[in-house]
Amino acid sequence: MNGRKIRVVIAGKGGVGKTTLTALLAYTFSRQGTHVLAVDGDPQSNLAATLGISPTHPILPLSEQKVYIQEKIGGNPGRGGFMVLNPDTADVVERFGIPAGERIRLLVMGGVQNAGSGCLCPEYTLLSTIFANAGSLPDEVILLDTPAGLEHFGRAVAQGFNLALIVTDESYNARAVARDLCRLARQCGIQDVVLVINRMPPSSDMKKIREEMADIFQKTWILPQDSCIPRYEPSVKPVVEQHCPIMEKIEGLARYMLQSG
Ligand SMILES: Nc1ncnc2c1ncn2[C@@H]1O[C@H](COP(=O)(O)OP(=O)(O)OP(=O)(O)O)[C@@H](O)[C@H]1O
Ligand SMILES: [Mg+2]
Repeated sequence: MNGRKIRVVIAGKGGVGKTTLTALLAYTFSRQGTHVLAVDGDPQSNLAATLGISPTHPILPLSEQKVYIQEKIGGNPGRGGFMVLNPDTADVVERFGIPAGERIRLLVMGGVQNAGSGCLCPEYTLLSTIFANAGSLPDEVILLDTPAGLEHFGRAVAQGFNLALIVTDESYNARAVARDLCRLARQCGIQDVVLVINRMPPSSDMKKIREEMADIFQKTWILPQDSCIPRYEPSVKPVVEQHCPIMEKIEGLARYMLQSG
């Protein structure tokens, strides 16, 4: 790893495979001996299940750790008030990271009400500080799974991440969202923006899609439709352990990420 940290944001239209990709990459890196922090930034929080964490395992999202938020930020959760705007969040993973397998920890962010409407509430301040300081977390690879769409690409991710994986499927609408996300990622200062075309059926015209996207994305990575994934849902762990067909491409993508990070 050469001491470098790879901080990756995974984004795309709804249902294109962001969470699946995040979990597959987490296991791929961990099997290579790399420490991974997987961050679930989606309020619907299904990364835990995709990583194979038992549904009976108690998970309290960070946005609901009221005592911690009060201790770090002050203010009144959901309402604002006097707040510390740059708190020390170095202990957040130690305190709230959930072990998700060897060398993988999961941090579940949870939802923040009113964040989109400009609310400067303590929960939002805490989450954006953690993102902005992602580089100081001890893990070598940080993978942030995001909710569908564009809204989260605000100042929260601006400073914290150095690689974006924009996921799409073949559909026109998902490709259009991917183009918008690519622009936003660059506006946020993320240099390396990779397009991941997921669930590609063997007959598809990849050349056409590649050409259409080549003007804005540095690199395009194609992942096949793989029947292993629905077979083992919700966990991707067996997909990795049994080296299902998609894994060859996932391992190639992980190698690219290590080299370019
Ligand atoms: N390469 C693939 N082959 C087959 N099935 C896949 C593949 N990638 C993802 N899936 C399936 O597609 C569905 C959507 O995947 P996933 O939940 O990862 O998408 P998402 O982008 O995270 O969705 P959301 O926007 O709701 O968070 C899941 O049922 C998943 O198992
Ligand atoms: Mg998801």
